[in-house]
Amino acid sequence: MITMTEKLREQFDAGLLSGQELRDDFTIAQPVHRYTETDHAMWRTLYERQATMLKGRVCNEFLEGLETLGMDKHRVPDFEALNERLMRATGWQVVAVPGLVPDQVFFEHLANRRFPASWWMRKPEQLDYLQEPDCFHDVFGHVPLLINPVFADYMEAYGKGGLKAHGLGALDMLARLYWYTVEFGLMRTPEGLRIYGAGILSSQGESIYSLDAASPNRIGFDVRRIMRTRYRIDTFQKTYFVIDSFEQLFDATGPDFTPLYDALRDQPTLGAGDIAAGDRVIHTGTREGWGDSEDI
Ligand code: PHE
Ligand code: FE
Repeated sequence: MITMTEKLREQFDAGLLSGQELRDDFTIAQPVHRYTETDHAMWRTLYERQATMLKGRVCNEFLEGLETLGMDKHRVPDFEALNERLMRATGWQVVAVPGLVPDQVFFEHLANRRFPASWWMRKPEQLDYLQEPDCFHDVFGHVPLLINPVFADYMEAYGKGGLKAHGLGALDMLARLYWYTVEFGLMRTPEGLRIYGAGILSSQGESIYSLDAASPNRIGFDVRRIMRTRYRIDTFQKTYFVIDSFEQLFDATGPDFTPLYDALRDQPTLGAGDIAAGDRVIHTGTREGWGDSEDI
């Protein structure tokens, strides 16, 4: 998520240690000496659990990323060490932030191939769920794909697109695209559906649910459709959008979105669980377990 609510503001402040310099671009030096043994143990537990479970569920590009980066399995990674390999691969780097940063700042970082990652680790009681991105979500979830050249270009283009969308008053539409691709995207491969969205693959429950559950819809990727689709931040997703490749994602988002924003601005949005005319439906969700009162 890329908007700043009060709760997130609180988390941001908590992630900023006293006496620490917050730079103009909202980054800080990663306070590596502040990680406790509990933090490292959390990383180890989560890493082990996800790496094992994701085999056969996550796209190959992600596994290649983990491998190429040589990401630390046992301790919270030192961003500097990570950046050495990442920079060499695609010119991307990870920068430490206290929590979610304002939209404009976030886009500016992406546009310059810097991925802002929360430095702090979730607490043991948040093993399965937390609402704001911690270091495990940001680093394990987002960073491996940044060594894929096409995905790396997509993320930079997204940042530039964000700066533009801001000026056009179209951030809500563009945020949906991020949500349904970078955070909750699935990919169709010859071996079956695979996960590439960071929000899914840093969560054990959703890594299983997104692929195996009958309740959610799975629909072929469509930029225009996604830009109209509301999303839930408090439950597993009601709909997953499925790309065929990162090339498809990059190509479909290449054109200037200005006319698209103009065309969609006054159209009604779709609920998170709706099926619309023209959808390339891969699976129609059974909607089982969805409450009636929810915005779906
Ligand atoms: N093509 C988009 C625009 O003109 C930029 C963009 C690229 C947005 C990739 C999102 C992802 O705004
Ligand atoms: Fe994220």
